[in-house]
Amino acid sequence: MNHSQRSPYNVLIIGGGQIGALYDTPDSPSFRSHAHCFTEHPRFAKPGIVEPNAEQRRKVADRWNCTTFETLDAALTQTVDAAVVAVPDFLHYSVLKELAQHQLKLVIAEKPMTKTVKESEEILSLYRSRNIPLCVNYTRRFAPGFAALKERIQLGEFGQLLQGTGWYGKGVVHNGSHLVDLLLFLFGNASAESVFHRVNDFYEDDPAVSALLRIGSNNAPFVLQGIDCRCFTIFEIELFFQKGRLRMTNHGETVEEYGIEPGKEFAGYQFLHKKTETPTGLNKAMYNVAEAAAQFLDNGVPLPSTGETAFAAQKLCCHLQSRL
Ligand SMILES: NC(=O)c1ccc[n+]([C@@H]2O[C@H](COP(=O)([O-])OP(=O)(O)OC[C@H]3O[C@@H](n4cnc5c(N)ncnc54)[C@H](O)[C@@H]3O)[C@@H](O)[C@H]2O)c1
Repeated sequence: MNHSQRSPYNVLIIGGGQIGALYDTPDSPSFRSHAHCFTEHPRFAKPGIVEPNAEQRRKVADRWNCTTFETLDAALTQTVDAAVVAVPDFLHYSVLKELAQHQLKLVIAEKPMTKTVKESEEILSLYRSRNIPLCVNYTRRFAPGFAALKERIQLGEFGQLLQGTGWYGKGVVHNGSHLVDLLLFLFGNASAESVFHRVNDFYEDDPAVSALLRIGSNNAPFVLQGIDCRCFTIFEIELFFQKGRLRMTNHGETVEEYGIEPGKEFAGYQFLHKKTETPTGLNKAMYNVAEAAAQFLDNGVPLPSTGETAFAAQKLCCHLQSRL
């Protein structure tokens, strides 16, 4: 059976804010909101959107020409196959709990899954007991450029990891978890050694923390730096390997790859030399969330980012939050 013969899934987006519906418009070239992705994806019917704010609800309905609801209760009187939780962080827990009362085929939660380890543990165990699959949108896991890098790192193409650094802002759990999750995705393990700085740059209860981590099979040092997001926003990672350097810049939209060359003017020295600068596909990664959901629902293809993978990142970030 091809796509057009199968009936589309009904998806409900809870929260018609930036990432739910307003980051982009139907004619945007990139995919930045769930409304855009699920509207475009052929395996989903036009999404319904829950948004309590009346003015915003009108804006969302106008922009996406879709059905909107004032409350989750009202939306759940309709048939819903999959739900996307795009409310502010502090509401993830209660909305995820509410959704678990309904036999949904898939729930996609925005990151972080919840605000605390205890809440996430409860959600994970609830979803397991109710047999509801849970995906968490750590978006870089859905960008093909990062999946390709992971494979090349694991094949040893760059040699052993020597050390690395990453910069982020706006809370270690809220945003730092993106960076930690990406390290876990690329290297499989990360642990905290020490915390050396913290700044309350956005959330009272979630400072941007700077810490020394250990990552990869050889426990290489990685300096995580929380930079005050009131000055500017940053998300970059730099990794040094025996055979070169990788720089993930522009929020992870681009990867620069450096090889090693003998110095032309300084005999005996090896120099880093920029070979390529490649887009990671992050501008389409949100669409790939919808695609991964369709592949999971249609064919049982494993999700690249689950409650379990997200929990590993959250546990480390919550640990960092409580140190110093
Ligand atoms: N994966 C990513 O890269 C990424 C990027 C941006 C935001 N996010 C996450 O998405 C979530 C939303 O962020 P945002 O920037 O869109 O926030 P936002 O404030 O723009 O949007 C949240 C919306 O939820 C609505 N809302 C509040 N209570 C609600 C309820 N009970 N039911 C339904 N809607 C409700 C609000 O009115 C608001 O419009 C956050 O958890 C954030 O961490 C993830």
